[in-house]
Amino acid sequence: MKAGEKKKRHPTAIILGVKKAGTRALLDILRMHPNVVGATKEIYFFNGHYHKGLEWYREQMPLSLPGQITIEKSPTYFTSTHNVATVERMYRFSKVISGEIKLLVVVRDPTERALSDYTDTKMRLKRHEGVEMEPIETYVLNKVRNAVENTSSIVKTGIYSLYMEKWAQYFTKEQLHFVSGEALVYRTFEEITLVEKFLNLTPYFTRKHFYFNKRKRFPCFIPNPDKSKKHFCLPANKGRKHTTISNITKELLRAFYRPHNEYFYQICGKNFKWP
Ligand code: A3P
Repeated sequence: MKAGEKKKRHPTAIILGVKKAGTRALLDILRMHPNVVGATKEIYFFNGHYHKGLEWYREQMPLSLPGQITIEKSPTYFTSTHNVATVERMYRFSKVISGEIKLLVVVRDPTERALSDYTDTKMRLKRHEGVEMEPIETYVLNKVRNAVENTSSIVKTGIYSLYMEKWAQYFTKEQLHFVSGEALVYRTFEEITLVEKFLNLTPYFTRKHFYFNKRKRFPCFIPNPDKSKKHFCLPANKGRKHTTISNITKELLRAFYRPHNEYFYQICGKNFKWP
């Protein structure tokens, strides 16, 4: 890393999503790399604050040195493709920063993602508004048609191919990297090594940066394993026990997603082997 002026710079890497697939884990791991700085808050510039302009966007970023990559994550970018504005805006932004943008998408078995999304919303509503949600079936099944309700956002977010078509129109294969949400949990080191390569980072991570926390049943992180035993885990709302779902509903969701998953594997060139 070159010595030089510490200042705020626009991101050159963006985690587009997907919500509840492991976006926080990816960001927090990458921020341990000495050549990466990342905005801790979710920014939602391209699909929420765009009118505030590029200077505002830069202001949201942490200070960085020349040679360091600035990264941000806003988990709903990936699915904000309805009027392609988000994608187009990001494309135009990539030209402003001379086309150097790299996009990361964490994807996870869409059935598990839907369960995670439902569990998250249920907990939030209960805590903040004292509202009790109906069972998951109410939101993901259409009782009249006895089929999966594909207009429900809990379901639709997992149809990754739907959104991918739009991103692929604007960005090249070399600019998009897909991270397996499952591998991020069970083969963290291997998965993060692929991300390091994609971002052209100097190899930094070793297995010593990760350990499996038996109590949390998820990996936790050791930022400086050779210097200190200090470690951290993601907060309790990440890696939570999901609410129960009947086998019938789960199988309906799996059957619904299967053809979409197959198409997604084709477009992104990677088979995630979701059941
Ligand atoms: P669950 O809580 O449903 O298990 P996001 O950060 O995009 O909201 O994703 C949350 C998901 O990240 C969690 O969903 C969990 O499965 C996954 N995850 C990946 N690595 C993790 C880690 N090291 N600690 C906790 N959760 C992790």
